[in-house]
Amino acid sequence: MGVSWLRREVIGSCTLYLGDMRDVLPALDEKADLVVTDAPYKLTSGGNAGASMSGKFDAEAYDNSGVLMASIAWQDMGGPIYRACKPNADVYVMCNDKHVGAAQVAFLGVGFKFHNLLTWDKGAPTRNKYYMKNQEYTLYFWRGHARTINFPGSKQEFSFPRPSGLGWHRTPKPVPLMAHYILNSSCPDDLVLDPFFGTGSTLLAAMAHGRRAVGIECNELFFEQTCNRLRAAMVDGFDGIRAECAAAEAAQKRRAA
Ligand SMILES: C[S@@+](CC[C@H](N)C(=O)[O-])C[C@H]1O[C@@H](n2cnc3c(N)ncnc32)[C@H](O)[C@@H]1O
Repeated sequence: MGVSWLRREVIGSCTLYLGDMRDVLPALDEKADLVVTDAPYKLTSGGNAGASMSGKFDAEAYDNSGVLMASIAWQDMGGPIYRACKPNADVYVMCNDKHVGAAQVAFLGVGFKFHNLLTWDKGAPTRNKYYMKNQEYTLYFWRGHARTINFPGSKQEFSFPRPSGLGWHRTPKPVPLMAHYILNSSCPDDLVLDPFFGTGSTLLAAMAHGRRAVGIECNELFFEQTCNRLRAAMVDGFDGIRAECAAAEAAQKRRAA
C-alpha cells in the first residue's frame, strides 16, 4: 500500500495529517470515540447576489461560483467517517441550511442514526435578500449504542460570535462551540477526530480539555498555519482557552434560564 498522507505532525496530544481524508482515514491505526467536524461543501452559485451579500460573500472576496474551498460530495465522506469510528461513537457534522437535507441523507445512508439538529447562532448575520442568515447547523448522529450527553440540560442552540484573527481561512469556527460538543459527547483521553480541520478549532478544543485529537486537512497552507496555532497554544498553555469556553458555557446557561 502507498503512503496515505503527505505529512504527519504530532503536537501535544494531537496528530495532524496533510492529505485527503478519503486516503488518510482508512490508514489510521486507532478508531475515533467522537467526530466533530465542519465539512466542506459548495455554496449555491449564481443568482443576482451583488451588493446584498456581505462578509466572505462580499463581491470583492467571492466570485459567486459556489467554491469557497476544496470540497467533496456528502456521499463520499459518510462511509470513510463511519468506518473510522469505534462501534459506539457520536458524530457532529456542521453545514449551512441548504446542505442539511443532503448531509442527513448521506450519513443515514451509511449507517449513522440521527439524534438532533443543533444550531450555532453566530451573532452578526450574513446579509441575504431572503432573510438575514445568522445560523449554521450541526447534524448530531450516533452509531452503535446511543449515549446520553454529559450535560443533558443543553439546548439545541449555542450562541457565540465568529472567531477573529484567522483571516487565512474563510470559515473558522469558534473553539467554545467545538468544545461544547466535545464536552457533551466524550470523556478525558478519548480520541476526537476532525477529518476537515481547517484552522484546527476542534483540535484545540479537544487538547484544551484533556482529549486526544486527530485531524486531517488537504490544504497545505491551512495545515501549516494550524500547526503553528497548536504549537503557540502549547507554549501559552490552555488556561486561556478553557476560561473562554467556561465563560461561553456560563453565558449559554444564563440565556437558557
Ligand atoms: C469548512 S472548513 C473547516 C473549518 C474548521 N472547522 C475551522 O474551524 O476552521 C473545511 C476544510 O476541509 C478541507 N478539505 C476539503 N476537502 C478535503 C478532503 N478531501 N480531505 C481533507 N480536507 C479537506 C478544506 O480545505 C477546508 O479547510
